[in-house]
Amino acid sequence: MPEPPHRRRAHASSSDLERYAGLFAERTRVMRSSAMRDLMAVTARPEVISLAGGLPDTSTFPPQTFAAQMTRIAQESAAEALQYGPTEGFRETVDCIVEVMGAEGMLPDPEDVIVTTGGQQAIDLVCKALVDPGDAVICEAPTYPGAIPVFCSYQADTIQIECDAEGMRIDELEDTLERLEIEGRRPKFIYSVPTFQNPAGVTMSLERRRRLVEIARTRELLIVEDNPYGLLRYGGEALPPLYQLDGGDFVIYIGTFSKILSPGIRLGWAVTPPPVMEKVVLGKQASDLCTSTLTQYFVREHFAGGHWREYVESVGEIYRERRDAMLAALERYFPAQASWTEPEGGLFVWATLPPYIDTSDLLAKALREDVAFVPGQAAYVDGRGRNSMRLNFSAGDEEEIREGIRRIGKVIAEQVGLYGALTGEPPAVAPRPQSQRAEGENVVPFRKAEGA
Ligand SMILES: Cc1ncc(COP(=O)(O)O)c(C=O)c1O
Repeated sequence: MPEPPHRRRAHASSSDLERYAGLFAERTRVMRSSAMRDLMAVTARPEVISLAGGLPDTSTFPPQTFAAQMTRIAQESAAEALQYGPTEGFRETVDCIVEVMGAEGMLPDPEDVIVTTGGQQAIDLVCKALVDPGDAVICEAPTYPGAIPVFCSYQADTIQIECDAEGMRIDELEDTLERLEIEGRRPKFIYSVPTFQNPAGVTMSLERRRRLVEIARTRELLIVEDNPYGLLRYGGEALPPLYQLDGGDFVIYIGTFSKILSPGIRLGWAVTPPPVMEKVVLGKQASDLCTSTLTQYFVREHFAGGHWREYVESVGEIYRERRDAMLAALERYFPAQASWTEPEGGLFVWATLPPYIDTSDLLAKALREDVAFVPGQAAYVDGRGRNSMRLNFSAGDEEEIREGIRRIGKVIAEQVGLYGALTGEPPAVAPRPQSQRAEGENVVPFRKAEGA
């Protein structure tokens, strides 16, 4: 048989690389891969329990509802649904967005909203509109691991401000802003995931929210509030989003349907002041002309049913139980020196291990036990976070979560034992059975709130 004209190459050879090396743009030198994307290839193996992704459980969406919604679109608006749409998105989609934001107390002007290809594209478009190489961009430490590749690809100077149990340390932010001012630099924006943060699971306190917005207003700085998880609350009191506190003058808001409906539809949005919107729209035209018409029709259909909040509440119930299963498993299987956050919502727990454990090395060992997590370093630009990890509790069921945490606990125990053998430290750090522990012991907040 003759060879097919184009065979798939397994790997780029060194001569391939040489051939293209001179062609790459300068920015590719600092581009970074998303840790979660890399891990997805490994975790696709069915035997691997992945606590690494940030995947909502889409099996909770009733297939018959999906079929009925798509059938209605096919029967009533096939030609329109298969056509290009406006760059800003359809007005009907924007109306759904206004409804979602209204559920958290926000009242955006529909004219300020652009529908994007996921919240991820909104981050990209905001950077495209605002960031030149070398510009300072401020974010939390740790920050959303998927934002780092975006900041890097626009060659931003990313400055990370420490987080504790109350979110971003505003006193540290003020020090940093002072320093930048002395250097004659004005950061392009302060990026924050204030509610059920990815990756740390922490929520910014009301006092810090107010201070952050006040700082932005007095210094005339932009905040980019990224809020995919605000409606996934499993306990505690709802707090006003930064956008609500500010009214939209200095806060650019990013939202998404990914966690309240489906990430596969790739629908998110940004709300910006009009002058920024003008540039964002131009950037989006260049990127992809418009967001998928078909999936915007799907959202419209879903919202027309009037049950979108019920669906969010039903998945929230499931995730609450999974979060509780993860916290109980951590208590049972992680060593006494480990600590972790107890999120009131969202999809993630952030665990911190003894400083001599490098979670990137630990991941290699964990994968041999068929379990995965995101090493903490993925959430920092500067190599910090080596002894921490992000654990997801939305994708798998409670049994998988327990088993996944048990396997990670086992490889941690091996590391702890090895360290003890090498240093002579007593093995008191090994996990103790649940029955020997006081209730709540080990569960410490993600560094207690200090200062502001
Ligand atoms: C904080 C944050 N921002 C943005 C995104 C991107 O979401 P999407 O592009 O699916 O809307 C995610 C996804 O996990 C996220 O956690």
